Amino acid sequence: MELIRNVRECQLWRRGVSGSVGFVPTMGALHDGHLSLVRASILACDLTVVSIYVNPAQFGPGEDLGAYPRTLEMDLQALRDLQVSAVFLPADGEMYPPDYSTFVMEEQLSARLEGQSRPGHFRGVTTIVSKLFNIIRPDYAYFGRKDAQQLRVIRKMTRDLNYNIDIVACPTVREPDGLAMSSRNQYLTENERRRAAVIFRALSDGKALFENGERNAHLIRNAVIARISAEPLAKIDYISIADDASLIEFEGEITADALVSVAVFLGRTRLIDNITLRLKN
Ligand code: PAF
Repeated sequence: MELIRNVRECQLWRRGVSGSVGFVPTMGALHDGHLSLVRASILACDLTVVSIYVNPAQFGPGEDLGAYPRTLEMDLQALRDLQVSAVFLPADGEMYPPDYSTFVMEEQLSARLEGQSRPGHFRGVTTIVSKLFNIIRPDYAYFGRKDAQQLRVIRKMTRDLNYNIDIVACPTVREPDGLAMSSRNQYLTENERRRAAVIFRALSDGKALFENGERNAHLIRNAVIARISAEPLAKIDYISIADDASLIEFEGEITADALVSVAVFLGRTRLIDNITLRLKN
């Protein structure tokens, strides 16, 4: 497994290899969710590159950039075990030199949901992913459905900027009690961790109502809110039931496939999750 620490070296590595290249961008603190993306890439591509870079541009003031978990040695061991071809580990100065002034911004999907709670977040994500795409020039890039809005924003950016890259969406990996795997789960106390299972239970309540024929977005949203509100440690940031493609909120009847997405605080830890409601033809 090659460890590549600077942009030039990465570009030279890329020039020297042939065959299909799969890419998994990460911020490290790897868990089974990340590793499922890596496995999907290894199965489908000749070579797999993983990047590990905690991207300061996607954290707002007062967010958890400084506290973000860093577990580099364990991450590298897990990637070695999977026989990843190369890991790109750039330093901040490589990605954002002091006079850095170019940003990539998707202006529709990014404005909603996470974009409202975390202004500037997607500008940071699209900028770094676009830079990584330019450096690594993958054929396929793998993203988890857990970050549903990020997946949609990246797909849109890839299309709008004509990247010749297939974006592959992989299922959310969950703990046995349903909690979606996330590097931020490490922040939870034991008690918060136990109670965090309420998030998936609430999403499942919404889905069950839908599958029993309920199409009123308000009623489904209220059921999700009721379940989460019954957990005293949980504080809702937002609950959204939106068109799965445009992310425009359903106000009345659900008339197309819908994405139910939530952001919930457990203590000081903010967790996101989602579930899709599919209308059958
Ligand atoms: O999903 C993440 O971990 C990050 O947003 C990404 C895609 C690696 C960009 O920093």
